[in-house]
Amino acid sequence: FEGMTIIELAKRSGESIHALQNILTNVGENIGSEFDSLSIDIAELVAMEIGVNVRRLHSCEGAAVLPRPPVVTVMGHVDHGKTSLLDALRSTSVAAREAGGITQHIGAFVVKMPSGASITFLDTPGHAAFSAMRARGAAITDLVVLVVAADDGVMPQTIEAIAHAKDANVPIVVAINKCDKPAADPERVKVQLASEGLPLEEMGGDIQVIEVSAKSKSGLDNLEEALLLQAEMMELKARIDGPAQAYVVEARLDRGRGPLATAIVKAGTLVCGQHIVVGAEWGRIRAIRDTAGKLREDATPAMPVEIEGLKGLPMAGDDITAVESEERAKMLSAGRKKKLEKDRLLKIDEGKEVSPDPLE
Ligand code: GTP
Ligand code: MG
Repeated sequence: FEGMTIIELAKRSGESIHALQNILTNVGENIGSEFDSLSIDIAELVAMEIGVNVRRLHSCEGAAVLPRPPVVTVMGHVDHGKTSLLDALRSTSVAAREAGGITQHIGAFVVKMPSGASITFLDTPGHAAFSAMRARGAAITDLVVLVVAADDGVMPQTIEAIAHAKDANVPIVVAINKCDKPAADPERVKVQLASEGLPLEEMGGDIQVIEVSAKSKSGLDNLEEALLLQAEMMELKARIDGPAQAYVVEARLDRGRGPLATAIVKAGTLVCGQHIVVGAEWGRIRAIRDTAGKLREDATPAMPVEIEGLKGLPMAGDDITAVESEERAKMLSAGRKKKLEKDRLLKIDEGKEVSPDPLE
């Protein structure tokens, strides 16, 4: 849509030029002639009005593309030690050691290794959040660590996690946890995983399996190495300069600071002071904080940050787009809210059709 003229938009959408010009006037845009090209924001507004779905393509020709750290999500069955493992991993970070183990909890953290390499871990509340994000097209995760307790073995949510990762086309690294327990039987777990269709490395496949214990903190180095190896093979890169493409990992309301969003930048740079549209909400970035709570001027790819300055509470998986002015931000937010409401009503309508009231 970027750079499209009204004539082209009319042709593609099947709307008349006159109708499109009316919409443009309604959203307060002064378009000189039908030969002028539309900005991406205006194109999105118009598209929403005529019920066409748009996707923003962030092509920044010539911008530098650099390697970036992997973003990892931990999944697995309840009580198999996801939180414990994340805590143990967090404690291995150089930064955590320097800060005496004190890191602010914002739903994501970065483990910096002595080698200088780093890994970003997302502390997602559960499989549902992972799926919700994916459903919104927020492919934030590069890798999944599948945690399986060595004593319990493969359980229903283990299988569910495998399905989610496969659906999302995200590579899995298996962490067999609780290997310190007397009842631990990692070999049995491997056989179970293989029978769930996971091609494990030691059986000729390509899925790495690492035996760990979150409790005794053993095997953590191996797990980090395995993740970096997997990431290396994926050649993860991101554009650093230019407009940010970022996503909300989680959001919460702080009494003093208002709505706060934990975000991960996928490409480009998010800068303090920018006007942003976040899902259907908008705001102006008042502060950016890293996972240690330190204020920053900007956020670059794979770096989890907390953003302050939103007018409303966004949802996990919402996309963050920087726009040129407050008016634009307000307009896009209003447009998206209207579209959400329209979609919601449409869904209710459809619901009525498929399930008529049994009393009637
Ligand atoms: P949910 O978030 O409820 O799904 O659980 P979880 O997967 O986050 O598990 P959590 O980290 O809360 O651990 C569950 C229990 O297992 C706790 O009592 C932990 O102390 C224990 N645990 C976790 N990791 C290990 C381990 O490596 N060894 C042993 N012995 N116990 C562990
Ligand atoms: Mg937990």
